[in-house]
Amino acid sequence: MAKHEWAHNALTERLGLTWPIFQAPMGNIASPALAAGVANAGGLGGIGLLMAKPGTLRDRIRSFRQMSDGRLNVNFVLFDAAPDHEARTARIREALVPHYARFGLGAPPEIPPLDGQVTPHDLESVLEQRPDVVSFHLGLPPDDIMDALHGAGIFVISSATTVDEARELERRGADAVIAQGLEAGGHRGSFLPGAADAQAGLVSLLPQVVDAVSVPVIAAGGIADGRGVAAALALGASAVQLGTAFLTCPEAQLPVNYLRALARTGHHQTTVTDRASGKPSRILRNEMAALLQDLANLPAPFPVQLILTQPLWDADAAMQTVWVGQSAALGRVMNAGQLVETLAAETSDVLARLA
Ligand SMILES: Cc1cc2nc3c(=O)[nH]c(=O)nc-3n(C[C@H](O)[C@H](O)[C@H](O)COP(=O)(O)O)c2cc1C
Repeated sequence: MAKHEWAHNALTERLGLTWPIFQAPMGNIASPALAAGVANAGGLGGIGLLMAKPGTLRDRIRSFRQMSDGRLNVNFVLFDAAPDHEARTARIREALVPHYARFGLGAPPEIPPLDGQVTPHDLESVLEQRPDVVSFHLGLPPDDIMDALHGAGIFVISSATTVDEARELERRGADAVIAQGLEAGGHRGSFLPGAADAQAGLVSLLPQVVDAVSVPVIAAGGIADGRGVAAALALGASAVQLGTAFLTCPEAQLPVNYLRALARTGHHQTTVTDRASGKPSRILRNEMAALLQDLANLPAPFPVQLILTQPLWDADAAMQTVWVGQSAALGRVMNAGQLVETLAAETSDVLARLA
């Protein structure tokens, strides 16, 4: 194989990428600086918007563009406002009162109006700023928004956690599908009924998704070094998306409690639970995870549960909710660009060894 032949395929060509490496758009953690570092090294930078204030999207894209003219993915986490959740929310709020009191935090916050759809304002900003990719988590938006994005030449992707979800994303017009294995840190991308209870690891899920759809497939979940990238390519992926591995890049500017916890996370120390936010996500099993588990039979709906528990995160090191994948222990502390280049060099080495 020519030196970097592995890095070139229809997807990288379409997106103008040097490396088939996507940095996961991780809520507020995926800062414009992190995305710019990745994009400047030839990967796809990702900006997350979960829990970001309205109007933030345009500013974040502009900030990215000041640091990079590389390739950018802007991410929306979709959700419906849960009907009739007041009783559940009130129960959680009440259960949290003693924990807030323990840390002198006052009363749990009021819940602002929540909109988990692409608003007309968001759409206008996206069409004006034209990121190369718009990605969604927890499904895809309505057809009119898909059409508007496609009309602007934007590449649209979303995560599948089962083969059926991958087929559904393709049917709805996704240009590529992310196969998210159970190892992944953060929220499960599951959006079809029952999918959250039918989850597979990446080695099982990825080739089955590759066989089921005709669009390119991006592998996510547990990939942290060149061995993982090479394995994903061997299983049929056109690119990889890494989240946890980018958490330890200085540009991510994680709170110190988060970073300390990451450094101690073995593969057996994480769990998938709906208690951190109201939807299933993989987090570190720490004191906060235990507290969340004991709080009530049911969490408040997504993302009310997250908003109600967030003030506790800074109260004490063990109170931080730590979204993290099963490969955290493979993480390295290096700049985002350096990590992309290291991943690329390692992948070349692994594939050369196997050739
Ligand atoms: C801290 C954290 C936050 C995340 N937030 C998002 C998000 O806002 N949107 C999204 O599409 N995926 C999000 N993800 C999931 C990633 O897209 C991806 O599936 C996952 O990171 C891959 O597994 P890995 O963490 O083992 O690399 C997040 C992941 C992590 C670790």
